[in-house]
Amino acid sequence: MILVTGATGTIGSEVVRLLAARGEKVRALTRHPAKARIQPGVEVVRGDYLDPGSLEAAMSGATAAFLVGVPGPDTRHDEDLVAAAGAAGVGRLVKLSAIATGDPGVGPSGTWHVAGERAVRESGAEWVVLRPSSFASNTLSWAEAIRAGTPVPNMTGDGPQGVIDPRDVSEVAVRVLLDGQLAGRTYTLTGPETISVPGQTAVLAGVLGRPVTTRDLSPEETREHLLAWGLGAAQAEGILAGSAFVRRGGNAVVTDDVRQVLGRTARTYREWAQDNRAAFAAV
Ligand SMILES: NC(=O)c1ccc[n+]([C@@H]2O[C@H](COP(=O)([O-])OP(=O)(O)OC[C@H]3O[C@@H](n4cnc5c(N)ncnc54)[C@H](OP(=O)(O)O)[C@@H]3O)[C@@H](O)[C@H]2O)c1
Repeated sequence: MILVTGATGTIGSEVVRLLAARGEKVRALTRHPAKARIQPGVEVVRGDYLDPGSLEAAMSGATAAFLVGVPGPDTRHDEDLVAAAGAAGVGRLVKLSAIATGDPGVGPSGTWHVAGERAVRESGAEWVVLRPSSFASNTLSWAEAIRAGTPVPNMTGDGPQGVIDPRDVSEVAVRVLLDGQLAGRTYTLTGPETISVPGQTAVLAGVLGRPVTTRDLSPEETREHLLAWGLGAAQAEGILAGSAFVRRGGNAVVTDDVRQVLGRTARTYREWAQDNRAAFAAV
């Protein structure tokens, strides 16, 4: 049985769907089982990273676990998740981390997954760390502006990134959850090419058949934008510094790791945009 945390989120929900479709026994963890939309046949358990007892109960009987933490300066939940897995004897741990983890150039957000990565590597279980680049689905936050015909906010200038389709992250997660031969490695997951925000809006304009413009945000505007999204002050500072890192070209990274695991190249941003065009369509 495979425990999936973050089971209602972007990556975890697809991991649950893919595992269930393969006939694997899956347990999905969420703080709100009553309102979680998880397909029939999947066991749903209540669990909260802030309640370690709930994590031990959720891990009980699992052979493998997919660990999705909450990004931010408080890393106790990652360590609590690994401790709960250890207490329950879970044999394989796959941690969702982030690209450039441990790189001092990224600023505070480069430290957010360090303790969790260390915990899984030192857990004694088979482990895999996944470090994806920026998700293509982050651009869903532009949908309202695009529908309204207003410029989308650009926090990263012309900085190119190896933007990855979240479906590829989930497919890789499923493979490494099921295949112990791929364990003991840190995979940096990117798309097949780098693309900047203006590059992404150009792709969207082509896919949607209408202009999509951007507006560069100053650091102060970026901070306000992130706080307005509901992020805490420390999270906002971390993302602000990370945005400056991207703007300087620090995240212009493309790897072959998706192909190494899945045996095919990663999807492009254009493929993601074509498959998600309905989200941007005028209502
Ligand atoms: N977005 C990117 O570009 C990007 C790039 C690289 C890495 N990452 C990493 O990806 C991870 C986020 O993954 P995602 O985007 O798939 O998640 P997401 O869509 O933001 O969803 C967050 C998930 O975390 C769960 N959660 C939040 N607080 C919780 C708590 N206290 N206890 C238990 N569960 C809790 C939520 O479950 P419930 O609300 O149902 O409880 C939800 O399933 C982060 O670690 C981030 O650093 C993101």
